[in-house]
Amino acid sequence: MGQALNTQSSSVGGDDMNGAARNTRADMTGTARHAQRGAHENGKVAASDDIAHGTPGLSANAPVLDISSLTLEFPIFKGVVKALNGVNLQVHQGEIVGLVGESGSGKSVTAMAILRLLQQDAFRVTAGAITVLGHDVFALQEPELLAMRGRDVAMIFQEPMTALNPTRKVGRQLADVIRRHQPVSPAKALERAERLLRDMYIGDPVDVLKRYPFELSGGMRQRIMIALAFSCSPSLLIADEPTTALDVTVQRQVLLLLRQKARALGTAVLFITHDMAVVSQFCDRVYVMYAGSVVEQGPTASLIASPAHPYTQALLRGLPENALPRTELPAIPGHAPDLSALPEGCPFRDRCPFADEQCRQKPPLEPMPGAPERAYACWHPARSAGVSQSE
Ligand SMILES: Nc1ncnc2c1ncn2[C@@H]1O[C@H](COP(=O)(O)OP(=O)(O)OP(=O)(O)O)[C@@H](O)[C@H]1O
Ligand code: SF4
Ligand SMILES: [Mg+2]
Repeated sequence: MGQALNTQSSSVGGDDMNGAARNTRADMTGTARHAQRGAHENGKVAASDDIAHGTPGLSANAPVLDISSLTLEFPIFKGVVKALNGVNLQVHQGEIVGLVGESGSGKSVTAMAILRLLQQDAFRVTAGAITVLGHDVFALQEPELLAMRGRDVAMIFQEPMTALNPTRKVGRQLADVIRRHQPVSPAKALERAERLLRDMYIGDPVDVLKRYPFELSGGMRQRIMIALAFSCSPSLLIADEPTTALDVTVQRQVLLLLRQKARALGTAVLFITHDMAVVSQFCDRVYVMYAGSVVEQGPTASLIASPAHPYTQALLRGLPENALPRTELPAIPGHAPDLSALPEGCPFRDRCPFADEQCRQKPPLEPMPGAPERAYACWHPARSAGVSQSE
């Protein structure tokens, strides 16, 4: 992973963060939309008018997040890392959308690009656009960008400990972030912090607010980060591998909380993971990414029941629940291509058992005949569809 991304394994929200990137993350947990979306009253999360009538400033059916034909590269000493190659991805209000793929496929670069968190001089966009709530992200001036991060979009990263200041009590940190975005007294901010923790089913929030982060479990810290992320009732939440560091039981609890909260607020969620099992339990729709391209997309249940792309099929064959008793889980043979030396044609060509001459040309992402809500980028889905999941 490139240097610019090394900071991303932390979580958004601590006000303690060092440097610009960390301040930016603290901003993204803002609470300014409380007034507009009026969600937390009397300790409960209430559906607001905005949710009932759509997101303000966004026409009906327009996606909250719209990535179209995004091509993004990192110039390096010996050439160019082609990190994103014509990515199309949309997330609508109230939807939980998964972005799944192996390590290095471009998931985090996509997330960072949405909020312009990539180091400014490290990358260039050669085609395409990202809009959030109808605003062209790359055209935003710095003040508008900061406002968007504080008001409309929140982000949760993998490891909360690096985002929380170990030397300051949780309550103080939460209250500071709340006050950054809302003109309330310190006492009122603490009250809100307590309510947010209660929403996360933290049993004794008053006690937790008095503790230092290192006194809490990983699952508890991640709940605090989720509480913080939702404190601004964001229109869009980006969660980049938020539960990877947690054990399976805690992971499930945290995911359920995240989903419950997102549903209650009508938040659009882009959920990034390498784990198809998590996608299957948690996401309404899914985009499968490979070597910086979306290779398949569609409603989760349908895509998992009948994956069209050989890469999606291979990912699903690797799920423990698809393994035969006393057999090893099949790994996908070979390696993902070097993004600074991408081969011509289909990026999966070197690992695909169905590759032929035609695959020397890159297949477009096209709707599935008879199921336009699904799409795949493969010349020969019919061939691969004949392969059962256990083969
Ligand atoms: N600043 C940078 N300079 C050069 N290459 C970079 C930079 N940032 C990211 N990359 C490259 O972009 C590609 C995509 O990286 P990304 O972090 O998005 O992968 P990922 O899908 O999130 O993987 P993981 O599952 O491991 O988090 C990788 O090849 C990475 O090395
Ligand atoms: S286009 Fe060809 S190489 Fe690519 S996934 Fe389909 S069959 Fe395999
Ligand atoms: Mg990543």
